[in-house]
Amino acid sequence: MKATAIAHPNIALIKYWGKRDITLNLPAVGSISMTLSGLYTKASVKFRPEASSDLLILNGEPASKSQTQRVSLFFDLFRDAVGISDRVEIVSVNNFPTAAGLASSASAFAAMTVAADAALKLKMPPSRLSEMARHGSGSAARSIFGGFVQMHLGQREDGTDSVAEPIAPADYWDIRLLIVITDEKKKEIGSTAGMEHSRETSPYYASWLATSPGDILEMRQIIADKDFEKLGELAEHSCLKMHSLTLTSRPPILYWNGTTFEVMNAVVAMRKQGIPAWFTIDAGPQVKILCRPEDMERIEEELIVIPGVKHIIRTQPGNGAAVLQDTV
Ligand code: PMV
Repeated sequence: MKATAIAHPNIALIKYWGKRDITLNLPAVGSISMTLSGLYTKASVKFRPEASSDLLILNGEPASKSQTQRVSLFFDLFRDAVGISDRVEIVSVNNFPTAAGLASSASAFAAMTVAADAALKLKMPPSRLSEMARHGSGSAARSIFGGFVQMHLGQREDGTDSVAEPIAPADYWDIRLLIVITDEKKKEIGSTAGMEHSRETSPYYASWLATSPGDILEMRQIIADKDFEKLGELAEHSCLKMHSLTLTSRPPILYWNGTTFEVMNAVVAMRKQGIPAWFTIDAGPQVKILCRPEDMERIEEELIVIPGVKHIIRTQPGNGAAVLQDTV
């Protein structure tokens, strides 16, 4: 009744923003991501028949009430699937800042899913694990798999086809992602609240939905062709299209800070000098730079001197979630 798993966050190359069903956590658009090596969540899960409540320890400290509630609801899915009522103790450790737009919920829920499956000896197939992880966080469905991953929009009302699927493994394409940290504070507006607000108020939401299938098809072709320039260009476009929803929500959601903008400008300036680099940004102020391995150091040198840049993390395509032998 106990197991530990590791999972990595992922970066969406084609972004997900908006839900078509909030209860089942079904996305309104498909998405494509790259799972990231180096950054991880390790989660130990222990079902405890004798305990009276669920307990979540996050990075060595008891989690907040709302975080524990979210995780309790998630574990209800497993309890319902097996027909038990055992409370659960989760010890989760991230090696990167939580809730700063670095998809910590993706790696956390993917790790908890795989650990819960192992603890309960369910042996769920990967697509079912992805579906379970999706209930915790939409992007977590993608972190079950390594390398390049597509999250399907799905059509069924019960969400059983809203699952991720691997496109290519981590060693398929040696590209890099630099994560430029501009702020380590917890974000103010979480993705679920942000998405709902955009769906309700942004005048661009309908065109976001309408242009999504074309972006997915194009990115799949780009990955098949290993065309780095096109990958960067389309990933940046998808990011800016997503942020145009947050910016045009009423009232607006401003996930960026001044340094975010400085870094974006620097990336565009580097491109003008012939350095192939493109940015992408999630629901937070960090900027992620897609680049080739041979240009990484030069780009890092240009960006680290920008005032407000705290540090830069190097990542590349990483593996899917897996059970570990040790405990956190
Ligand atoms: O899975 P969530 O609810 O954390 O949403 C993720 C939203 C973005 O990171 C902004 C985009 C994405 O597709 O990962």
